[in-house]
Amino acid sequence: MIISSTLDFRDAARRRLPPFLFHYADGGAYAEETLRRNVADLSDIALRQRVLRNMEDITLSTSLFGAAMPLPVVLGPIGIGGMFRRRGEIQAARAAHRAGLPFTLSTVSICSLTEVTKAAPGPNWFQLYVIRDRSFMRDLLATAREQGAKALVFTVDMPVPGARYRDAHSGMSGPYAPARRVMQAVTHPRWAWDVGLNGRPHRLGNLEPVLGKASGLNDYIGWLGSNFDPSIAWQDLDWIRSEWDGPLIIKGILDPEDAREAAAIGADGIVVSNHGGRQLDGVLSSARALPAIADAVRDRLTVLADSGVRSGLDVVRMLALGAQGVLLGRAWLYAMAAGGEAGVTQLLTLIEKEMRVAMTLTGARSIGEIDRSILA
Ligand code: FNR
Repeated sequence: MIISSTLDFRDAARRRLPPFLFHYADGGAYAEETLRRNVADLSDIALRQRVLRNMEDITLSTSLFGAAMPLPVVLGPIGIGGMFRRRGEIQAARAAHRAGLPFTLSTVSICSLTEVTKAAPGPNWFQLYVIRDRSFMRDLLATAREQGAKALVFTVDMPVPGARYRDAHSGMSGPYAPARRVMQAVTHPRWAWDVGLNGRPHRLGNLEPVLGKASGLNDYIGWLGSNFDPSIAWQDLDWIRSEWDGPLIIKGILDPEDAREAAAIGADGIVVSNHGGRQLDGVLSSARALPAIADAVRDRLTVLADSGVRSGLDVVRMLALGAQGVLLGRAWLYAMAAGGEAGVTQLLTLIEKEMRVAMTLTGARSIGEIDRSILA
């Protein structure tokens, strides 16, 4: 596998994964307009090239929520990561921690938070969805506290799951899905051996208390459909705030008014995100939504962003648009699917190098110097 850029991981992941998983990762909602715009709008952001400014000493280090880190980069939450590589969440968390970065574990991960904390101790963040069963949410929060999660990422842009048409075509859902997945596994033996046979159990670790041993892939899809709660409202977040005294980060903000609400309930941070174009197709890309949101709330909370970030250059672009930190989504998932822990390590090295080049040639010596002044 020759990897010379972050984009190569996607091709390698495509070759290795059964199509139902590749398209689950790669696809978005409806006609995938927002998915495309996330990437296109970000790559349209032009930077000012500045030269001959003695850029020998530059530093990429920063701090988020009081924790020092070598780059303003976090691995964001990805559901069923352990289906992409054997106990995938652990592999990704280890790579993140080796790089000194936080790993965010999804509510709907394969490995439970307890399993990840044990196998990959380090700055793990925990992502929580709004779930109908509030007492189960309370239990999950208690586990997050017990396991020493360093931040809670509360995802609010999934009151209902978005329609992802690719999933019906690929065998992730739709007619004869289980049989089609078996056929695809047979024709992708490297994945079948690594994950299908040796990566078991394929249960949703965090949901075992409510789903029991039957928490497999079909249960996952069913659970997503029936357990998200469209009745959630800002007032409910007071309850979360009172249950969680660590950093609280609201993920899925795309509008300055909502960002102000997040500040008003006492959130410590937000993630400007459209869930990687997987929820409401047709909404703004994160790159376009970010500047107004950052202007509205940056003095009151930490503004993070994701959706469309595929390289270190994209990280710098998001920072220039007003983010203080960036979450990777598909970027790390492709790298993990392609190369496991080593793949994620390689990705993070590439991202660091690309950021360094971008900072050197825009004249930004530190993360704090990356702002709109570097935009052309
Ligand atoms: C996600 N995302 C996500 N977000 C979340 O809060 N909880 C989750 O369980 C998941 N699961 C998930 C699975 C897959 C396969 C993808 C691709 C994404 C959204 C994710 O955290 C992030 O917001 C997006 O991936 C960002 O967009 P890019 O960078 O992938 O384009």
